[in-house]
Amino acid sequence: MKPWEVLARAPVPGGKGEFVLHHRDGTFVIRVNGQELMSSRVHGSEETLARLGCEGLRATPGARVLVGGLGLGYTLRATLDVLGGDAQVVVAELAEAIVAWNRGPLASLAGEPLQDGRVRVETADVKRVMRGAGPWNAILLDVDNGPSGLTQPSNAGLYDSAGLAAAHAALKPGGVLAVWSAGPDERFTRRLQQAGFTAELHSSRAGPGRGTRHTLFLARRRRTDRQGSAP
Ligand SMILES: C[S@@+](CC[C@H](N)C(=O)[O-])C[C@H]1O[C@@H](n2cnc3c(N)ncnc32)[C@H](O)[C@@H]1O
Repeated sequence: MKPWEVLARAPVPGGKGEFVLHHRDGTFVIRVNGQELMSSRVHGSEETLARLGCEGLRATPGARVLVGGLGLGYTLRATLDVLGGDAQVVVAELAEAIVAWNRGPLASLAGEPLQDGRVRVETADVKRVMRGAGPWNAILLDVDNGPSGLTQPSNAGLYDSAGLAAAHAALKPGGVLAVWSAGPDERFTRRLQQAGFTAELHSSRAGPGRGTRHTLFLARRRRTDRQGSAP
């Protein structure tokens, strides 16, 4: 078997290691400190995250969606495919290099989603973008392994009670927070409910009809709650 070719390297923002972009026989992989972050071989659950999180939004005029974590662009592509022509999608990506690679060698993997006129890229922490540029119809988070087992310790602040309260406040009434996770997490489900969401868990295969099962948390802000009511 051919060895992996290293196409590029970049420091992880915050100084904790290095992203490495590998290529072999048409497959692209981004690794962080030797661990696979994302591969072009399997992206089923990343796409399902978008389809579940944006369900029903095609018919919503001017729908606003925040995608947290660009990776290889599959969640962003699936989001664009679900939404209507007047939607606005902001993608928040921490690493400048990941954005540059998506404009370069990775661009065609998910059909050049950054070229879509509905997309604005913020090279920033999704925590900051979520709070600053809402309210959102949907927030899709795929920035780590999920609520536990983080590769980026600062991401804990997205999944703890304060982070969930911020996400809840940043959503429109009836809006959805969809979270990708390597597996189920009962404590996270409870925290979602305590933050005022209705929470559902979905299981999604990594590949078409095969592969590891991942967990997708679908948390909806109620249409009427203490912080607001449906328009
Ligand atoms: C697993 S990948 C996302 C894969 C993506 N869903 C796809 O379809 O290819 C995680 C991405 O989130 C980014 N990231 C990690 N923490 C972040 C944060 N707090 N804010 C924004 N981006 C973050 C990483 O740099 C990486 O590009």
